[in-house]
Amino acid sequence: MTPSTPTGLERYRPLIPDWDEFLAACKRPLSTDLRTNTLRINPDDLRDRLLGKGIRVEPFAWEPTYFRTTRTVGATVEHWAGLFYLQEVVQSVPVAALDPQPGELVLDLCAAPGGKATDIAARMRNRGCLVANEPNGRRQQALLANVNRIGAWNIAISEYRGQDFPIGDGFDRVLVDAPCSAEGTLRKEPSLRGGALPSAIRRLAGIQQMLILRAFDLLRVGGRLVYSTCTFAPEENEAIVAYLLERRRARVLPISASFPHASGVTAWGDTAYPSEVSDCVRIYPHHLDSGGGFVARIERLA
Ligand SMILES: C[S@@+](CC[C@H](N)C(=O)[O-])C[C@H]1O[C@@H](n2cnc3c(N)ncnc32)[C@H](O)[C@@H]1O
Repeated sequence: MTPSTPTGLERYRPLIPDWDEFLAACKRPLSTDLRTNTLRINPDDLRDRLLGKGIRVEPFAWEPTYFRTTRTVGATVEHWAGLFYLQEVVQSVPVAALDPQPGELVLDLCAAPGGKATDIAARMRNRGCLVANEPNGRRQQALLANVNRIGAWNIAISEYRGQDFPIGDGFDRVLVDAPCSAEGTLRKEPSLRGGALPSAIRRLAGIQQMLILRAFDLLRVGGRLVYSTCTFAPEENEAIVAYLLERRRARVLPISASFPHASGVTAWGDTAYPSEVSDCVRIYPHHLDSGGGFVARIERLA
């Protein structure tokens, strides 16, 4: 890297045409989003219950199980009883792209603390089987607590490193919500406001390459893989999808997204990625006034 090469967040300026809006959103405090646990209550009844306590929540037209509020809602009986999960609306995008169905065999390869796993279980109506894998013992405790609170009874918990998950029956769907440099969480994690360290990005990209290959090999033919991160770095996003496309018979599927977003980038520095990665979705903090993220939807070909 030459001394004039932009570093930190500044290196993303060429990717983000609405740069000033991006910077302004990064500096704003976050609202609170919550996802209705449809295994226990429907969104209208939850909204009425919260309103009865003087807590006003606003719905999202494109994701009706989610609400936004400016109030603190963690210390309520509704939260303790598992009527909702505190989770930014951006977290709904990978699970909606996965589109898990009741009765299927589904794997969440990097599952703790369980925000997406409990959403998957709810979309499966607790039918079929979801394997929620998490190698970190402490984080696994949080996963277990959330699974119990939400009442997601179709979940089995495993503790492999994702790259070592044993190949067996083919899964219908696999989610890799990868460990990443998490730049998209900078609104709640001030240490990330300057962007991630290049050494961290390189280390994580090595793990992500192993995870995406193993996740793909765990699918049945015709099965769907969703790869997601909460970071902006193309080295951890489009480059990882391109790495898979070079090594396996896979294709990127479009994601139906009726909310503001950007497309996957097909070039970064001196590197060009296959044109199909433009079907991936990038979400910046100003798009949903939330955190940021990246989502790819991939099919295993015969
Ligand atoms: C972004 S977090 C997952 C968040 C989770 N999907 C949710 O929605 O609540 C990534 C997780 O991957 C786990 N992880 C780290 N290295 C891993 C590996 N080699 N294989 C599988 N999971 C790993 C981390 O411990 C962390 O819990």
